Amino acid sequence: MQKLRDAIVYNRTLHPERTNATLERIHEVTENVLQDRAEKHIDQLNSLLLNVPLRQPLNEVQADIIVDYFTGSGLSRDELARIAEQLEYSEISTAEAIDLHRQYKMPVSRPEEDIIPVKGDGCWIMDTKGKWYLDMDSNYSATNLGMANREIAVGLFNQASTLISMKEDRIQIARARFLKEIHSMMPEGLDQFYWQNSGGEAVDKALKIAKAFTGTTNVIAFKGGFHGRTHGAVAVTWNEKYRKPFGLHNLDWVHFAEFNNIENVEELMEKTGAKIIILELVQGEEAGNRPADPEFVHRLWQLAKEKGALIIDDEVQAGFGRTAVKAGDWFACMSYDVVPDLMVIGKSFGGGYPVTAVVARKEIGNAMRHGYDGSTFGGNPMAMTAALIATRQMREKNVTQNVVDRSRQLYEGFKELRKKHPVMGEIRCRGLMVAFSLGSEENVHKAQEALAKNGVKVSLSTGAFIRFLPPTIISRSEVDYFLKRLDKALDGLN
Ligand SMILES: Cc1ncc(COP(=O)(O)O)c(C=O)c1O
Repeated sequence: MQKLRDAIVYNRTLHPERTNATLERIHEVTENVLQDRAEKHIDQLNSLLLNVPLRQPLNEVQADIIVDYFTGSGLSRDELARIAEQLEYSEISTAEAIDLHRQYKMPVSRPEEDIIPVKGDGCWIMDTKGKWYLDMDSNYSATNLGMANREIAVGLFNQASTLISMKEDRIQIARARFLKEIHSMMPEGLDQFYWQNSGGEAVDKALKIAKAFTGTTNVIAFKGGFHGRTHGAVAVTWNEKYRKPFGLHNLDWVHFAEFNNIENVEELMEKTGAKIIILELVQGEEAGNRPADPEFVHRLWQLAKEKGALIIDDEVQAGFGRTAVKAGDWFACMSYDVVPDLMVIGKSFGGGYPVTAVVARKEIGNAMRHGYDGSTFGGNPMAMTAALIATRQMREKNVTQNVVDRSRQLYEGFKELRKKHPVMGEIRCRGLMVAFSLGSEENVHKAQEALAKNGVKVSLSTGAFIRFLPPTIISRSEVDYFLKRLDKALDGLN
């Protein structure tokens, strides 16, 4: 039972990322696998390992005692293999992981303790208890190619083994490779890249570039918009609860317009002289996946042209095919048939590895002079390798066509379910930015809990809207699976 031993005492050559398993985790996986037969085995193990602290990594002698016990205890090969497999993916118990987070993680967000993921396979995710879930939120749209990706793993391994990092200003080959391949996906004329590490950071830099180009500081953002958590991104994010604690709620350079209301934008531009506009074409986090009206978008572009203003299109969530309405719509702007002056991209860009960018037309990018900005990690070789492989896979997998097909399937499925469950209200499906109303926040939480019990992981909501951002590679049969589970989860909601 070498596999079991290796799962308890880690092999530094093969798994330098690990530590040794704890007795608490051994107890947990025994319970997960043997369920009501677990207790007697746990008692036996405890009597063999008297006084071993539950959360201390086991040593080699203790590991041998456990392996000897399990192999002689009459468990089937399959049971032993499952115990080993669960230890392989986590040597730390669920309870200890939660306690460590409670003790040492700053409470900047509500901790999600219900599912602790350890392994992904396509659109599926396994937790520390060995239970599999269909993932319907893709880490806010970052893991669109699935929760694990062998090709990206191999590329990152090769890159880390040769050149792990390089500062932003030095030319390097991983970036050159990326630049050679990316252009077919980008909107016409947007060919100047400036890479960052998070969406918020890229929004910040887009604002700096727009300010440098226009020589102005006033910005029009939109009610219901969300742009991230850095100082600049929070400043242009609508919800006051994100701005007020940091004194970013009364800034004289940010002005919020009504979304989908061109007259209001025009009025604000007149009043403030603003020459910079930032928006999400499909408002996600804060507005429940609300798409812009096409008429509004065209008039906005027209207005910006008349006034000599720049439009920053924040596609951090909407980009890389997520909002496609026809094949080839890699970005929401393509589905609206407009080209922004600057675009911010992120999340899905690296297939889950952090890489983001501001993309702009040449003359706009050129407003940034040497010394105006810089970044230690922006566009580093690991990030560029992940972006090269992820974007290539998106093209090869024909992701935009899949998004169009799965979006239609979900929309039709929701409409059918609404006949049976009148609690369902407005349905929104722009590509795979999907949401529907359940009438109240309470109903949303109940539905999310019921879905989790039925093997579907969902954690996104905006008020009474339950939101879904499934991986863009989700298959027809997986959407069917989801719709069946949703039907069950909605039973009893009113
Ligand atoms: C539209 C939009 N912009 C920016 C961001 C910020 O991205 P990040 O969390 O990578 O900083 C988000 C994150 O959800 C987003 O949805």
